[in-house]
Amino acid sequence: MVRRSHTHLPDPIFHEPIFGETDKLPDPNGFSTAHPSDGQLYKEIGDLLTKDVVAVPPSRAAVDAVVPLADAYGSHGPAVTKLIEDAGKIIFHALGDSGASNVRKYANELHVADQVTLDAASSTGGNRPAFLFHLGDVVYDFGEAQYYYDQFYDPFRNYPAPIFAIPGNHDSFVVPNTPEGEEPLAIFQRNFCAQKFGITAEARSLHRTAMLQPGVYFTLDAPFVRIIGLFSNALEDPGVISNLDGKWPTVSNVQIDFLRAQLKKIKTDGYKGAVLLATHHPPFSYSPPDTGSGTGGNHGSSTVMLQQIDKVCHDEGVYPHAFLAAHAHNYQRYTRIVAFGGKEIDVPFIVCGDGGHNVNPLVRAARGHPAQEPHAGSDVGYLEGKHRPSWAKQLLLEKYDDQNYGYLRVHVDKEELKIGFHQVGVRTLAQSRYDMVTVNLADHTMVAN
Ligand SMILES: [Fe+2]
Repeated sequence: MVRRSHTHLPDPIFHEPIFGETDKLPDPNGFSTAHPSDGQLYKEIGDLLTKDVVAVPPSRAAVDAVVPLADAYGSHGPAVTKLIEDAGKIIFHALGDSGASNVRKYANELHVADQVTLDAASSTGGNRPAFLFHLGDVVYDFGEAQYYYDQFYDPFRNYPAPIFAIPGNHDSFVVPNTPEGEEPLAIFQRNFCAQKFGITAEARSLHRTAMLQPGVYFTLDAPFVRIIGLFSNALEDPGVISNLDGKWPTVSNVQIDFLRAQLKKIKTDGYKGAVLLATHHPPFSYSPPDTGSGTGGNHGSSTVMLQQIDKVCHDEGVYPHAFLAAHAHNYQRYTRIVAFGGKEIDVPFIVCGDGGHNVNPLVRAARGHPAQEPHAGSDVGYLEGKHRPSWAKQLLLEKYDDQNYGYLRVHVDKEELKIGFHQVGVRTLAQSRYDMVTVNLADHTMVAN
């Protein structure tokens, strides 16, 4: 809430954005314990989570428009852009599934939010992360206005940079009897897709201004990197980005048109930077082959969604350098070898859904079958599904962590994209990196280190 003094303040008050609080004040509100039990709600709505998709609100921007990072910084935008360009590289954070829905989970969310905040605040100059890209599930359960403070604004109160977001299923599924205008995507848009800088009611006493994304899908155009974010809708599984020939009648194909226009623009502009694609639902999430070695984790692969994306990429002749997703509450890194443009390219597919809500094991024991964990480097081509496309040559599960919370720290320069996974609270911040993959931007070759 905006505190007004007795003197008249010019209107608008917020002509530029505010990120982290500069005063380290104690939290006046604490974590509300009024959040209902997840279990009870899930029992009531269980089957709806397999079929109740939501309409995709059209973006305010043209299909081929991009959102310059500088816009998120207001009048400081040109200086921030110059600092990044002079440094010859950009650093940013990405994570998903941060929302805490009870006091026990809140501590975990705070650990993650505090570590990314410390990482950003203690990095200087060109090493300082320029933004955080949230991969969805910001607020559980499901995206209600009254939980934004506890689950988003308060944990990230001191994060000193813009936070972009694509909505997850928990930011979009509409619980029956939700009053009109209080649907989660309406609240999400109020906080992430505002038309001008200002503080929403959800931020209460804090000062992080709402983001100015043109919609729930958008392309962030930062120096050295473009991130194309798609909204993968409200189901538990799978991710849904389009109408799929009438299978999802209320979902339009606006995101397919958007993706096509964005890839076409990359081609016609001769864009040489890194291209990342981001969805909340992961194209691949591990489950064991049908050998009786336990069952998969809490979420499956969204291969139909991926095949739609693949088709647009092939039509337009542009394939992203990496794919980021969340939803499954762990870290998984795959290498997908794809036949593209007459050669084979290596594409990292990364799941980073352990941002605070939960950490789930990759495999669970099934009756009579103990959980058998996969080896690093396992060939998991069967995750492509029964309609495996001919261009999908090989799929390897390279590395994973299903025990710790964590986040991605991404570095992009003119030549390379480096995606590092950092564990939270396991070692010191400086030693927290557990995994990293490097992609050569010009030829899509990849090295893990
Ligand atoms: Fe999710």
